[in-house]
Amino acid sequence: MANYRGKHLVTTQDWKVEELETVLSLAAEMKKNRYGSKFTGILKHKTFFMFFYNPSVRTRQSFEAAATELGGHAQYLEPRGMRLKTSQSAGETTEDAAKVMSRYAEGLGIRILEDKVNRYGEGEALLREYMQYGTIPVISMAHDKYHPCQGLADVMGAREHLGNVRGKKLLQVWGRGALVRSWCSVQESLLINSRMGMDVTLAYPEGYDLDPQVIEWTRKNCAANGRKFEIIHDPVKGYKGADIVYSRNWMSPAAYGENGLDKENKEKEIKKAMAYQDWVTDAQKMKLTNNALFTHPMPVDRGSEVTDDVASGPRSIIYDVAENRLHVQKAIMALTMSDFEYKNKKGGRKR
Ligand code: CP
Repeated sequence: MANYRGKHLVTTQDWKVEELETVLSLAAEMKKNRYGSKFTGILKHKTFFMFFYNPSVRTRQSFEAAATELGGHAQYLEPRGMRLKTSQSAGETTEDAAKVMSRYAEGLGIRILEDKVNRYGEGEALLREYMQYGTIPVISMAHDKYHPCQGLADVMGAREHLGNVRGKKLLQVWGRGALVRSWCSVQESLLINSRMGMDVTLAYPEGYDLDPQVIEWTRKNCAANGRKFEIIHDPVKGYKGADIVYSRNWMSPAAYGENGLDKENKEKEIKKAMAYQDWVTDAQKMKLTNNALFTHPMPVDRGSEVTDDVASGPRSIIYDVAENRLHVQKAIMALTMSDFEYKNKKGGRKR
């Protein structure tokens, strides 16, 4: 029987595959039996804090619904309402906030993206500070490096449509766009899908390199599964034979200037990204695939990252994946914030 009470979730790379399989199996059961009585009291009288430095549609709503469906409550918090200490102002330390918050709630979700930090990695450092000083599990709700709940929802959605994804090809492709996107969803997808035994092709224009540590882990994950990993800088080639196409804009490493991702850097980044006319997922490119599914973590920058006919087409699974955020988060909360025990009858691979 599995229970992970108190376990933090910063990235799926920190969890064993067996543990991820348990989450996915429980999430599938919760989806089938959404309001079943064995689930609706798991978080009775318990609170989950959702601490948002950045806005959200899916993450806030799905976590809030998840807590409700498990019989608990999710409370929305913003830093501006909390008088916290920052590099610019006096206030309460993270240590004190973490210790006090741990007295009220059973879990803490944090979202902090690149425009709220000065350098890549500072968002994750904040999560780790809360982990260090608090006594409740910290769950990333997307930070500057990773988005574990999105990665789990991606895998759940792909499996619902393809069955086992082992040996199938994922094309993770950069898309032009004006939203200056985080690396978090893309990096999480590379990590989790490479551990699930997919062949991975990462395609992006020169100059849009991701975190070298993530690339190294992805390479190792693929190698450990006997699968292929390649990086290409061609906007078309990677579509050939793909089973899943995941397009997403992401910012270049150059976007972090002296003052982080400030307004001036953002404007430069948008101008640069929008010039890549060839990096749009469209029906023509999808014809080169193995009748691939199209996926995206949303919000979709329609007409830039992907054309409307693909995003809303018959092979698009974007809404299934968005729905799955709810189910995987229910499973994560049940296993990390309560004594609920679950036996994964399918077992799951250990690697
Ligand atoms: N995919 C995702 O995290 O969406 P939101 O930014 O709307 O939460």
